[in-house]
Amino acid sequence: MPEKAIMGLKLAYIRKNYQKSKLSEETISGNPFELFEKWYEEAIKVLENEPNAMVLSTVSNNKPSARIVLLKELLDETFLFFTNYLSRKGKEIENNPNVALTFFWPVSERQVRIEGVVEKIDAVSSSNYFNIRPEESRISAIISPQSQVISAKKILETEYALFVSEKKPIQRPDYWGGYRCIPQTIEFWQGGEHRLHDRIRFIKEKTTWKTERLAP
Ligand SMILES: Cc1cc2nc3c(=O)[nH]c(=O)nc-3n(C[C@H](O)[C@H](O)[C@H](O)COP(=O)(O)O)c2cc1C
Repeated sequence: MPEKAIMGLKLAYIRKNYQKSKLSEETISGNPFELFEKWYEEAIKVLENEPNAMVLSTVSNNKPSARIVLLKELLDETFLFFTNYLSRKGKEIENNPNVALTFFWPVSERQVRIEGVVEKIDAVSSSNYFNIRPEESRISAIISPQSQVISAKKILETEYALFVSEKKPIQRPDYWGGYRCIPQTIEFWQGGEHRLHDRIRFIKEKTTWKTERLAP
């Protein structure tokens, strides 16, 4: 073990024992969305911080990139999130719709990994969600060229103030909207004693889901 502490913290010595719960084949149904909803509700109950935050991983030229986005709906067995279609992630999805979504709920000692393909949702649904966002968020979504290099924050503040003073209509721009991820696999991870964690993966097979247990 290196004696020199990394970043002032003895990271190698930080150990957490996982013992909150167990995940067994006997207690789950054949539908991963039922389990996801159960875990999501439990994440809310135990006050996970931002339980709907998920890591969205995309690929461009065989290189991955990842960032957090918020899950906004679970609809018809798809996972919905909203963003700027011209952002880095938007361009990467345009070229390669294969993505991964990862949830981490530390209080519950749980992780969920979803792999699937994304597609844009329809314009009306995107506008419906856009219109329920607070006015400030809507204006920011309109004026921010997400992912582009800007010379200073002042540029955005000036654009924002200009937008407000000109009393422009606060309508959803066509470069902002939702994506739905249609999952092909969903893996549920529950931390276990002695690092013998439970991992159960659901794999989509036409209209049904196959389950299998993975070694931790
Ligand atoms: C907690 C949290 C929630 C976020 N939610 C979103 C979101 O729902 N949509 C979004 O476009 N960006 C969201 N972001 C910002 C993204 O992580 C990212 O900075 C932005 O989308 C630009 O990513 P890109 O340049 O890879 O396209 C969130 C960031 C954090 C930390």
